[in-house]
Amino acid sequence: MYRTHTCGELKQSDINKEVTLSGWVQKIRNLGAMTFIDIRDRYGITQLFFDKETNPKLTKRTEELGREFVIRVEGKVTERSSKNTDMPTGDIEITVTEFKILSKSEIPPFTIEDNTDGGEEIRLKYRYLDLRRNTVQKGIILRHRMAQEVRKYLNEQDFLEIETPFLIKSTPEGARDFVVPSRMSEGKFYALPQSPQVFKQLLMISGYDKYFQLIKCFRDEDFRADRQPEFTQLDCEMSFVEREDILTLFEGLAKHLFSVIKGKSFTEQFPRITYDDALNIYGSDRPDIRFEIKITDLSEIVKGNGFNVFDNAEFTGGICAEGLSGYSRKQTDELIKWVQRPQIGAKGLVFAKYNEDGTFKSSVDKFYSQEALKKWADAMNAKPGDLMLLMSGNKKQILIALGELRLEMGNRLDLRNDNEFAPLWIVDFPLFEKDEETGQMHAVHHPFTSPKKDHINSLDSDPENIKAEAYDLVINGNEIGGGSIRIHETELQKKMFRILGFTDEEAKAQFGFLMDAFKYGAPPHGGIAFGFDRWVALFNGSDSIRDVIAFPKNNAGRDIMIDAPASVDDQQLKDLNLKIIKKG
Ligand code: AMO
Repeated sequence: MYRTHTCGELKQSDINKEVTLSGWVQKIRNLGAMTFIDIRDRYGITQLFFDKETNPKLTKRTEELGREFVIRVEGKVTERSSKNTDMPTGDIEITVTEFKILSKSEIPPFTIEDNTDGGEEIRLKYRYLDLRRNTVQKGIILRHRMAQEVRKYLNEQDFLEIETPFLIKSTPEGARDFVVPSRMSEGKFYALPQSPQVFKQLLMISGYDKYFQLIKCFRDEDFRADRQPEFTQLDCEMSFVEREDILTLFEGLAKHLFSVIKGKSFTEQFPRITYDDALNIYGSDRPDIRFEIKITDLSEIVKGNGFNVFDNAEFTGGICAEGLSGYSRKQTDELIKWVQRPQIGAKGLVFAKYNEDGTFKSSVDKFYSQEALKKWADAMNAKPGDLMLLMSGNKKQILIALGELRLEMGNRLDLRNDNEFAPLWIVDFPLFEKDEETGQMHAVHHPFTSPKKDHINSLDSDPENIKAEAYDLVINGNEIGGGSIRIHETELQKKMFRILGFTDEEAKAQFGFLMDAFKYGAPPHGGIAFGFDRWVALFNGSDSIRDVIAFPKNNAGRDIMIDAPASVDDQQLKDLNLKIIKKG
């Protein structure tokens, strides 16, 4: 027998029990007369005690042990002389009577501690060791718990968990596909799904009116902390529903998770704001509403004072940072540099300090009198002590830049508390966005998203201003999920494809199966998919989704542990009828 108990379980009430434990050596302290060893498994740590005086042979043998050796020990639970109240097993130790080395370990490349000395690359290379660390384990276990709760909740609501294939044809979610060459169909490729979108719609046509799946999705897109080339969605679809039904049901799921996982109860409905308002007020379609700072449109107020930049701008907007009027020249210069970084791309930043004594000091004092600056302050609800920050230019670009600056000021003012959660729904997204260079329309969400009912008539005349029956769930500035009510009529779907630049033949070649399916009784339906990794990372307080994925890719999309992607041998290429052509 390897163990009677885990390493996290024994306590005061177990004193005098004879026990057997197995686990990894965490720490060895040889104090001469006594040796203490911490033994660890995923449940916790237990202290082992070896007494040289009463058991010299056994104690001597502990010198063979090293960090991360796997051992099995037998002994008696005894009371500790110096208790450790920080540990669940801190009242006891095991006075060891026998132990056996089950497996030796080389010295690990980094310490298996919460605050390890290993950098991210080395930890990813030895991810199986990194996964032993308490902090990493916590995220993996949280992920398991959330998956169980999701299944429980949706099962109780009569959802069916149905699997969909991985080897498919391209799905239009806006990223590049990963493709898999087919051996049996020469020169042909499967694509890995960017999402199960079309399959879940087909399942609705098949009558499975409530579907969900925790499913891997694959997207060949550029790296960000909240993106992985393969990631997990909680993917859901329902029939005979309107937007309200979906928002209500999945808000219920979110509230359930908040309650059981985070112990937070949300009694009120989550706020809902339109995409247009989100952009105008927060400069983002995934606003962090944990803090109040809002964007003010100052376009008219700032005009007519001879300051060309504002006079000629399409839009001037500002935000007010509370209590920062004391910012030094160095700090404001640094903020200007911050907005000029390519990620933000602003030309410049105008600031005006509303001093504690009620006077103003701005970077444009040459053009604006104290009275003029007071007008800015009134429009922005600024108080003495505040710092007003203004930018001007193309409206959408400036709103987005102000949105980024808003987040930065939120960070600086410590207004983004990890333990506070502010969920909201963003609704009424635009259906299309126009490619500025080619003039071609693209689907903001995907081509199966339904326009809002009363906008359908202007599909041909005014596509740019059409809003979609689409919604996102946003929590603390993260897009946690998104979905829509779908088109379920062949004619409307055909029209969508046409606006998106597909010829009827192209649409038929790519999505003929879906258009055909619509001919055989398609129920009205809609759904949503949540970024499961993102949700777990958020609840885990992690900055990167990598922390909650057992075996993630690095920021170049590589698995550096197994060394993938990798070359394949010539025979494999031959079987697949493929030839590698070297670039250049
Ligand atoms: P969407 O493309 O918005 O919608 O994806 C849904 C959610 O998945 C998460 N997500 C990602 N997470 C990690 N890494 C990525 N590369 C990544 N890309 C997306 C986000 C996002 O909100 N089929 C539609 C859903 C629907 O209409 O029902 C879809 O996939 O949290």
